Amino acid sequence: MEKKFKRTTVTSALPYANGPVHIGHLAGVYVPADIYVRYLKLKNEEVLFIGGSDEHGVPITIRAKKEGVTPQDIVNRYHTLIKDSFEEFGISFDIYSRTTSETHHKLASDFFRTLYDKGAFIEKSSEQYYDDEAGQFLADRYITGECPHCHSEGAYGDQCEKCGTSLSPTDLINPKSAISGSVPVMKETKHWYLPLDQHEEWLRKWILEDHKEWRPNVYGQCKSWLDMGLQPRAVSRDLDWGIPVPVEGAEGKVLYVWFDAPLGYVSNTKELLPDTWETWWKDPESRLIHFIGKDNIVFHCIVFPAMLKAEESYILPENVPSNEFLNLEGDKISTSRNWAVWLHEYLEEFPGKQDVLRYVLTANAPETKDNDFTWKDFQARNNSELVAIYGNFVNRSLVLTAKYFDSKVPQAGELTEYDKEVLAEFAQIKSELEQLLDNFKFRDAQKEAMNLARIGNKYLADTEPWKLAKTDMERVGTILNISLQLVANLAIAFEPFLPFSSQKLRDMLNMDTFEWNSLGRTDLLQAGHQLGKPELLFEKIEDPVIEEQIQKLLATKKENEENNYKANPVRENIEFDDFLKLDIRVGTVLECLKVPKTDKLLQFKIEDGLETRTIVSGIAGYYQPEELVGKQVCFIANLAPRKLRGIVSEGMILSAENNDGTLSVIMPQKEVKPGNEVK
Ligand code: MF3
Ligand code: ZN
Repeated sequence: MEKKFKRTTVTSALPYANGPVHIGHLAGVYVPADIYVRYLKLKNEEVLFIGGSDEHGVPITIRAKKEGVTPQDIVNRYHTLIKDSFEEFGISFDIYSRTTSETHHKLASDFFRTLYDKGAFIEKSSEQYYDDEAGQFLADRYITGECPHCHSEGAYGDQCEKCGTSLSPTDLINPKSAISGSVPVMKETKHWYLPLDQHEEWLRKWILEDHKEWRPNVYGQCKSWLDMGLQPRAVSRDLDWGIPVPVEGAEGKVLYVWFDAPLGYVSNTKELLPDTWETWWKDPESRLIHFIGKDNIVFHCIVFPAMLKAEESYILPENVPSNEFLNLEGDKISTSRNWAVWLHEYLEEFPGKQDVLRYVLTANAPETKDNDFTWKDFQARNNSELVAIYGNFVNRSLVLTAKYFDSKVPQAGELTEYDKEVLAEFAQIKSELEQLLDNFKFRDAQKEAMNLARIGNKYLADTEPWKLAKTDMERVGTILNISLQLVANLAIAFEPFLPFSSQKLRDMLNMDTFEWNSLGRTDLLQAGHQLGKPELLFEKIEDPVIEEQIQKLLATKKENEENNYKANPVRENIEFDDFLKLDIRVGTVLECLKVPKTDKLLQFKIEDGLETRTIVSGIAGYYQPEELVGKQVCFIANLAPRKLRGIVSEGMILSAENNDGTLSVIMPQKEVKPGNEVK
């Protein structure tokens, strides 16, 4: 049974204010949320779009410490930057506030206290790492040590970034405090836990039975959490940045960031609507929708609902459309590795092209699986879709009307079968788009809108009004009337996706009716209506512009390789006698040939002072055979002969491996008599 709702509360994940936002944020959360909200607003539905910055949590304190400033300085800087970026991209928040606001501190604190008073938490003591020198408990990120898996140094208490393994602080070998460098000790500390295990039963029914319509990735992740069995989760931390736990005896403890942040949605609503905020959060006729990225699923589908349920007066989300991740040129987007397209940089480098990025990110939206952003695809979609189809159709319709009818909408005469067919396609647009948008299928919805532009473009190409201008002006008028109605429809249909272009188009058309419900109408522009001056909606992006972006990423990649390179750990010690067992000598290359039908192998004839020997070596990828003839190399003389591709190799030529995997042959720095030893 379809529930009827009066209004919709839309939230989008609050980004951490410890760095700027990038295309992954936009594609994963903010563009889809904005499309949805604009769609509902265009339908004149009651909707509220809540955003804000998430300003607590350990990473912000680490960043502050590194830069020698306060956490407040950090969040002030990034909150402003992020807020501006969103505004520039047309993300139409009704409010974008922050979790360091007074309203939020009070609301989150009171919320905790309400749950505490209801007995919704359990209290538990446990042993955690403590830095005696600094006099504080250590968050997982503040403990570093050797990874128990790959044995590299500098793994964090929650993860080894070298091999990617999730860790807990007690897994680390030789743990050290990142604050003082001292060895941390175990010390008892008390925390409050939300007993998720006690919520499991209703959560199972609510999600697995009542919300089968959730996206498969969301539903599946919830199911696997539920099937593993839920555990109590600590909702407080020993930290000096955050909202103090409002309970006696909780000095030095703050609310866990994932407890306070989602409440930020509520606080920001309250900040905007101090008198009526509760309607949006407590009235069963309000529909709550959370837009998030996939790493946030458990918090929005399990933890936050359990908090809301425990409080007892709140509604629960109806849907949590979560996207998967967007990669950049094949690699995971990473703030720390600067592997991203930053929104504030894009705006500088592509001024006025917000809609192009919005379009490309929706066309490639990672709705069902991770997806890739590439600059080539960005260019192709701009040039061959936005410019060549949508922009071209709009431009031709307006320019022809200017030329033949002084920019006044001409009268339509009798319609041909083809005219009727084209109009019929447009009559369906409203219900088709609604079907998709109501189900959060933004990618398909945008594709549908572009298909209509395609139909319009083809209509002009097929009817060729410019050829009829000398003979049949009435027919030209009909064709252009139809084209202009289509253009007006496109302005509405694209508004949720490409708001800047729709605004521009609306101005060009002098359109006064502009609402979703007019979609499909063929009388959006009356005959005689005066149009504005035609301008290009989109412009071509040339190769050098794209090349520059690609070069910029390549430079980042190179820099990362240099910065992140760390030699392998040294192997176990050996005795001197073991070393003496190796007979390493110098030889002169007499002959060098590629081994047929292989990519890697070179076959050498080496003068070794006794006779000549044959050695096969896997360095064909790095040297041309003739480069090495006459050169001196080092080889292991007493390696037992091995057969490689039917050739007996008597020894091994020594090469050094670079960190990109390329090999460089070791050569004596001065001429040495062949057969002499390397020691
Ligand atoms: N800051 C979190 C992140 O970027 C998202 C917080 S969403 C909220 O992953 F619900 F907690 F606000
Ligand atoms: Zn590791």
